[in-house]
Amino acid sequence: MTFFGETRGRVRRSVAGMSFLPRIRLLATGGTIAGAQTGGERGYKAAAFSVEALVAAVPQLASLAQIEVEQVAAIGSQDMNEAVWLKLAARTEAALAEPEIAGVVITHGTDTMEETAFFLNLVVLSEKPVVLVGAMRPATAISADGPMNLYNAVAVAAQPAARKRGVLVVANDEIHFAREIAKTNTTQVGTFASGHRGLAGLVNAGRLHLYAPPVRRHTAQSDFALAGLVALPRVDIVYSHAGMGRELIDAAVHAGARGLVIAGVGDGNLGAVALAAATDAAKAGVAIVRSSRTGGGVVERNIEIDDDALDFIAADELNPQKARVLLMLGLTRTSDPRALQEMFFAY
Ligand code: SIN
Repeated sequence: MTFFGETRGRVRRSVAGMSFLPRIRLLATGGTIAGAQTGGERGYKAAAFSVEALVAAVPQLASLAQIEVEQVAAIGSQDMNEAVWLKLAARTEAALAEPEIAGVVITHGTDTMEETAFFLNLVVLSEKPVVLVGAMRPATAISADGPMNLYNAVAVAAQPAARKRGVLVVANDEIHFAREIAKTNTTQVGTFASGHRGLAGLVNAGRLHLYAPPVRRHTAQSDFALAGLVALPRVDIVYSHAGMGRELIDAAVHAGARGLVIAGVGDGNLGAVALAAATDAAKAGVAIVRSSRTGGGVVERNIEIDDDALDFIAADELNPQKARVLLMLGLTRTSDPRALQEMFFAY
């Protein structure tokens, strides 16, 4: 871990008893926020800049916090995986366990940020702020959004009022709950949306406006934990569509999936042929979660599909990629569909 530039001076001043700025641990994983353009206006390479370079680009951070940096990974978030999640969660918990650390900020690619945020929301057992931040434009782009996003993320993590709200994501002057956020646009800086339950708040040049805290269980009240977790069970997502066959469901089962999330049409539905495959999979002990490909709404039990009879699980409000995260963790505790269903109502 490195103590960075200007903030290193602050740490030294604090040793002399002069600095009362909060201490923030910045864990870097890569992504476009650390990306550089490569071929003129179009190409870019994610994770090109080190975390030290990111902090150096925003000297104003030194007025918010004493920042300590650690490079946990240097990847585009399309390459994020369970092994990095476990390492990142462990580094986050270790930082938060230090009494002097006020909060953690994690730089991350935006593509899978919602999945990482939700995973941390379920396993990091701390009330201190954990804030993920990314950018839609590379650090070298005209009007890069990373520096202001990073500044705002540190401002949120440094605020005691941001505690007990679960893992948060800061982007485009908005604060999102890990459970609610979804990436909704391929390129625009306003890509993130928080659906029906809405934003955690706004952050305007470091000034916070926090809304109501989340109602579902998270972080310190979570029953999940990192302790003893060395791997996660395989869970695949299968996308439903008109004319869907059974082959992809059968292939996932054959590949060893212990759970399947169906990105169902409409209310988490799938046609008769695919439904037969999912029914066979459930009978074979594979947990079947029905989510929706629509991007909004609640998948309820027993509306068009008899979940009680088929031992299926309704994803409630979780989109397919977040349903997969919860199902992976849930399967580390039980394979009983009723108990798994209760988790989807609780988290
Ligand atoms: C990534 O997710 O690593 C690439 C895209 C981005 O960060 O916006």
